[in-house]
Amino acid sequence: MDRYAVIGHPIKHSQSPFIHQQFAEQTEQTLEYQRLLAPLNGFADSLRHFAAEGGKGCNITVPFKTQALDIADELTPRAELAGAVNTLHLLADGRWLGDNTDGAGLVMDLKRLGFTLSGAKILLLGAGGAARGALAPLLAELPAQIVIANRTPARAEELAQHFAELGNISSAPLEELEQSFDIIINSTSASLQGETLSLSEQVCHPDTRVYDMMYSATETPFLAWAREQKLEHRYDGLGMLVGQAAESFYIWRGVRPEVMPVLEALREQLA
Ligand code: ATR
Repeated sequence: MDRYAVIGHPIKHSQSPFIHQQFAEQTEQTLEYQRLLAPLNGFADSLRHFAAEGGKGCNITVPFKTQALDIADELTPRAELAGAVNTLHLLADGRWLGDNTDGAGLVMDLKRLGFTLSGAKILLLGAGGAARGALAPLLAELPAQIVIANRTPARAEELAQHFAELGNISSAPLEELEQSFDIIINSTSASLQGETLSLSEQVCHPDTRVYDMMYSATETPFLAWAREQKLEHRYDGLGMLVGQAAESFYIWRGVRPEVMPVLEALREQLA
């Protein structure tokens, strides 16, 4: 049986086995998908071991996404731009192809939720790995503008410069945002620490749509802030999680699974 895995540290809370099992059932594919805990200094060894045991592909999660970029024998352009690999695919000649499906998963989910990206003014909060992975796929949708705002402004400016050739992109300090945006995407990990970002209410207008790449069984602080601003369209990142998995599944199996039923099952399971 073809073997797949998600490799990370920690790994026990990963929902990927559930998602891929559901995809496999839905598309009638026979495969096995497991969680693999790699030691913090042992990612390369774990991957070698997995390949020796017949592993055909894997998802890579925190903290190994940049190590996976270095280990991959070949990279897709989007993985190269993201500077991180979340999907490894074993090619017929035994080499690893490194890809990054996070940004595609985000864009897929935004479209599913009815966001219009083309011509939109987008505010991206945060300038870490999650922001970097999202930028090329977002810019490919031809928004009017993307402004990156981050607690550490220099990181936002660095990202804006890195992606400058792909579209209208700039950076601004979090406290100095004065214009309003059609879409606000939170890529920061502030929610994980239960912290709220200090955002001016000027950043939204009544129809602003917000998306938090994070998800939790309870409302994230960012989505609570959006509710307080009386914004109607507020979404968490669970659909992005399923979307990036669907894109990985497609790379490995050549079949596109349906996202919605799996998203519903996952939402129910997490409730
Ligand atoms: P990831 O790969 O998940 O993006 P990361 O690279 O560590 O993780 O980046 C985390 C992001 O969340 C950064 O933009 C970080 O801001 P800094 O660059 O200033 O560190 C942001 N972040 C984390 N905690 C935050 C908080 N409490 N308030 C504001 N921003 C926060």
